[in-house]
Amino acid sequence: QTLDLELEAIEKGGFEHFMLKEIYEQERSIFDCMRGRLNAEAGTLTLGGIHHYQEHLINANRIIIVACGTSWHAGLVAEYMFEEFARIPVEVEYASEFRYRNPVINKGDVVIAISQSGETADTLAAMELAKSQGAIVLGVCNVVGSSIARLSHEGVYTHAGPEIGVASTKAFTAQLTVLAMIALKTAWHRKTLSEARFLEYLCELERIPAKVAKCFELNDKITVISELFKDARNFLYLGRGYNFPVALEGALKLKEISYIHAEGYPAAEMKHGPIALIDEEMPVVFIATRDSSYDKVVSNIQEVKARGGRVIVVVTKGDALIPKMADFVVEVPKTCDAFMPMVSVVPLQLLSYHIAVMRGCNVDQPRNLAKSVTVE
Ligand code: G6P
Repeated sequence: QTLDLELEAIEKGGFEHFMLKEIYEQERSIFDCMRGRLNAEAGTLTLGGIHHYQEHLINANRIIIVACGTSWHAGLVAEYMFEEFARIPVEVEYASEFRYRNPVINKGDVVIAISQSGETADTLAAMELAKSQGAIVLGVCNVVGSSIARLSHEGVYTHAGPEIGVASTKAFTAQLTVLAMIALKTAWHRKTLSEARFLEYLCELERIPAKVAKCFELNDKITVISELFKDARNFLYLGRGYNFPVALEGALKLKEISYIHAEGYPAAEMKHGPIALIDEEMPVVFIATRDSSYDKVVSNIQEVKARGGRVIVVVTKGDALIPKMADFVVEVPKTCDAFMPMVSVVPLQLLSYHIAVMRGCNVDQPRNLAKSVTVE
């Protein structure tokens, strides 16, 4: 027993919980994910794992992404990336829904299954169904040799290292990194991105680990914010564009480990329902970084403030406008729209972590949840 406890303390590497350790590992895990694959200086991007089926992806009529939980959120970001970079239509499906509804799978469709554990029963079943109908299935997994990795035709590992905390953190950002690389590589072959743009994206992707590390400097400020909001009963998370899936992921993190009810919404949909809930009792977290939907999100923040809501906003460093209207702001480094989720999710991971710790919750093993769901 004592030995077990000591071993666990060693594995946590000085952190109080695995989740916090894994949040801080993201600088390294994103880098590891790109190592040996991306070389911006040489202008190369090599994904050995999808060599044989690369042609299928390049010529795909449609990409169908199947996943569950946090991996499904990574899939939503990937939808925007594939559409923006490679101009291929994408559908993102909950594996559990896809498998039971007789989906239309056509020749020329490529299925991408995303899973940290590689053992999620619904995702496995969705892949089996797609394969039985002749689709090519590519896997994006973290666990080497897992069932999903073995069932896929080919795939790309995320190499984030073992993730122990039930709430996924570093696996998510590694999935985004892999999916960005697959989308960029596909775009390069399809010539939907100019060589210059392609190289710019490679350079920017290489800068992401350092930008993620910058977010750790927000830890003290986020601890203070967490103290003020830890007793809230509901939270709303809002974002648009690439930050919409980040809003969903921020809300999921909070629900999972602090047991506070939280909803993520595309900010513009707020007026079709959630706006009715807004009062001073319900904090609203906006992800409002400087991107193509910035001006629209600013109006959404004003709408919430006009109704007495309290807002916490993730902004791009140097934003001069939002601090004037928000109750709290946390600044993250600037990056392109497509890679922002890897950066903007970090303060939300920290917020949910601190709130859960302050509420005395079992952060690494929240009630009723399992790290990998191998039954339906
Ligand atoms: C469980 C975990 C989540 C995870 C989801 C999908 O619900 O608690 O953290 O996102 O399964 O898992 P996968 O291993 O397929 O990514």
